Amino acid sequence: MKDLQNIKQRFGIIGNHEGLNRSIDIAAQVAPTDLSVLITGESGTGKEIFPQVIHNYSARKHGQYIAVNCGAIPEGTIDSELFGHEKGSFTGANESRKGYFEVADGGTIFLDEVAELPLSTQVRLLRVLETGEFIRVGSSKVQKTNVRVIAASNIDVPRAIDNGKFREDLFYRLNTVPIRIPALRERGEDIFLLFRKFAVDFAEKYRMPAIRLDSEAKYILLNYSWPGNVRQLKNITEQISIIEGEREIIGLTLRNYLPDYGSVKLPAVIKRDDEKSFSSERELLYKILFDMKSDMNDLKKLVFDLIRRGDIDVNLHEGNSQVINNLFREANDRGEGSHPTENQPSGFSTHQTRNDIQDTEEIIEESLSLADKEVEMIKKALEKYNGKRKLAANELGISERTLYRKIKEYGIES
Ligand SMILES: Nc1ncnc2c1ncn2[C@@H]1O[C@H](COP(=O)(O)OP(=O)(O)OP(=O)(O)O)[C@@H](O)[C@H]1O
Ligand SMILES: [Mg+2]
Repeated sequence: MKDLQNIKQRFGIIGNHEGLNRSIDIAAQVAPTDLSVLITGESGTGKEIFPQVIHNYSARKHGQYIAVNCGAIPEGTIDSELFGHEKGSFTGANESRKGYFEVADGGTIFLDEVAELPLSTQVRLLRVLETGEFIRVGSSKVQKTNVRVIAASNIDVPRAIDNGKFREDLFYRLNTVPIRIPALRERGEDIFLLFRKFAVDFAEKYRMPAIRLDSEAKYILLNYSWPGNVRQLKNITEQISIIEGEREIIGLTLRNYLPDYGSVKLPAVIKRDDEKSFSSERELLYKILFDMKSDMNDLKKLVFDLIRRGDIDVNLHEGNSQVINNLFREANDRGEGSHPTENQPSGFSTHQTRNDIQDTEEIIEESLSLADKEVEMIKKALEKYNGKRKLAANELGISERTLYRKIKEYGIES
């Protein structure tokens, strides 16, 4: 535990999310070994710091650490960059040159965006991973090197394998220790810690007071899908810090900085199954209604219990009687009710007037469509998190227990 805090402090990692802690913990545990590590996670989740943690906590820390962005090197030169070349091996090769695997002997190589490597380079990489052997481009001499490889990818490598873009054997070799970095939207309240840190950093950098968020802006921050993850949050915090004169940022202002927030038409969001985002305005409204309805139900139950147990003295006038009658009827519908008149404050009739009934029907109709929305949102959230209730509840902004209750109540299969 102490290590965890030390690592976070030393490497400037902000957050306490369980999944993030676990990733750091795995990195620390695996650091002293020579095992290959594959770091996966969406773009901007903070993958780049992990190989540095691993290198610095390993016996190789005094050796070279070389980070290579495999996606940024042209296909024609990548073999030469990684494994070196001999003089005259290709046009322009006027001198022989060492590659990263030769230079980093005794150290660590971080292969970022590893899924971008051409297949022919993947073969060379597999060889050096398995035997420590490599050959410079244009040479026939086999050389040895002792390098620890850490790789990262923000794309789904198994899918790249299915598409014939990535070698399965190399994947298994690299993936000896998998580390998955959670997306920002999964990290709950960590987002506030990150926002505050960035806001303070930029305030210092630009010599101005730090920006703050009002409660609506906080709500939006927490519920936006953050496709660009921490990088996007950092960029937006910087933009807002510079552009906005007012230091307290309201929801409306924040929304202007979030692409897709509220501007996406609902049907598009619902039909797109590649990106199940909860970011549209209408969905936000449903969510608010959904939360309100939950709160209302809880309150109703509470009041009903209090009345039934005689804990409050209900001295009721005309207007209230219908409300109380409804309370008792709803409780009956839930199956928790008493007999119609038992425990019910005296002076109440369970008999409905025509008006009462009409009102009730209206209420039920409305709440039914809201219930449909609830079911839909719950199903979507469960689907998004592969049935993981904790994460789904988090996204929906309700407690796990409430979610559990609703799943039972609506008979949702999960
Ligand atoms: N937990 C964190 N605490 C503080 N800063 C973070 C954290 N995670 C990420 N960052 C910052 O967010 C930015 C993006 O992180 P990074 O470059 O590591 O993303 P990445 O996962 O490599 O993304 P990509 O796949 O697009 O390369 C960096 O500026 C990094 O410092
Ligand atoms: Mg990166």
